[in-house]
Amino acid sequence: MEKNYSILMSQDLALVEDYLANLCVRGSRYADLQEAMEYSLMAGGKRLRPVLVLETCRMCGGNLELALPFAAAVEMVHTYSLIHDDLPAMDNDQLRRGKPTNHVVYGEATAILAGDGLLTAAFGQLTAAQLSPEQIVAAVDCLAQAAGPEGMVGGQALDMAGEGRSLTRQELEQLQSLKTGALIDAAVQLGCIAAGGNKDQREQVSRYARAMGRAFQVRDDMLDVISSQEELGKTVGSDQANEKSTFVTSLGLEGCQQLIELLTRQAVEALDGFDDAGFHIWLAEEMAQRKK
Ligand code: IPE
Ligand code: IPE
Ligand code: MG
Ligand code: MG
Ligand code: MG
Repeated sequence: MEKNYSILMSQDLALVEDYLANLCVRGSRYADLQEAMEYSLMAGGKRLRPVLVLETCRMCGGNLELALPFAAAVEMVHTYSLIHDDLPAMDNDQLRRGKPTNHVVYGEATAILAGDGLLTAAFGQLTAAQLSPEQIVAAVDCLAQAAGPEGMVGGQALDMAGEGRSLTRQELEQLQSLKTGALIDAAVQLGCIAAGGNKDQREQVSRYARAMGRAFQVRDDMLDVISSQEELGKTVGSDQANEKSTFVTSLGLEGCQQLIELLTRQAVEALDGFDDAGFHIWLAEEMAQRKK
């Protein structure tokens, strides 16, 4: 059973990589900008969010190929967030997705612009989907909310404002639900929108994503402490260097592990009633013990 899901995952990854590579080929070239955008977008990464778009579309009864532009869009926003997150003014990190960070290669100005370019192009992607105008408007609304000041960017602002301070558990939960949870939540909702899913389905997949997104950030905080640069493909020890409050500083490694197990159970339970939630359950369990 498990093996089938990893095959499914590889098939989804191939679709996403092909779709993104094709977009890159079609882009025009101004100075280093396009190259810098492609550098980070095509550097790999787990592609968790686009896979969630595709598989949630399937789970809600849709045709997964129609969801590809939505999947690309959310990965473009995510990649932009990583480029900016690594900048000297933010986390000041040198390694990402196994390669030197964008600003290390292209300089800060181009890295900022590459992020701007990916963010803007993402919304163009949403409108390129062969879906109804109502579905596209719903998708734009969903991604705008999740990426903006009430979502990822808001969370990043809280994260920066929290440096050098000890955040309460509640502050930490809010910060993670925005900076990381919002885009993961958007990914499943975009999949549901692409499938023409109903309100109940959308609420249910969102509950799954919010629990798994929390677990995902707890694991991210753990890996920053317990992993190595080689394995993780990004700078380790970054949180401590930046004096961040994290789930590790708040709960300890053992506490993090227990929280991840609890949240993964909650994510799985949220999908009660779906005929075919196998992949989502498998994915939540994989992410709970991921090494990168
Ligand atoms: C890293 O995200 C940043 C967080 C939101 C925790 P991922 O761990 O999904 O990074 P990639 O896409 O695999 O590089
Ligand atoms: C960043 O969180 C989340 C984003 C919105 C990019 P982190 O700063 O912990 O992500 P990593 O560890 O650098 O990937
Ligand atoms: Mg950060
Ligand atoms: Mg960071
Ligand atoms: Mg981190």
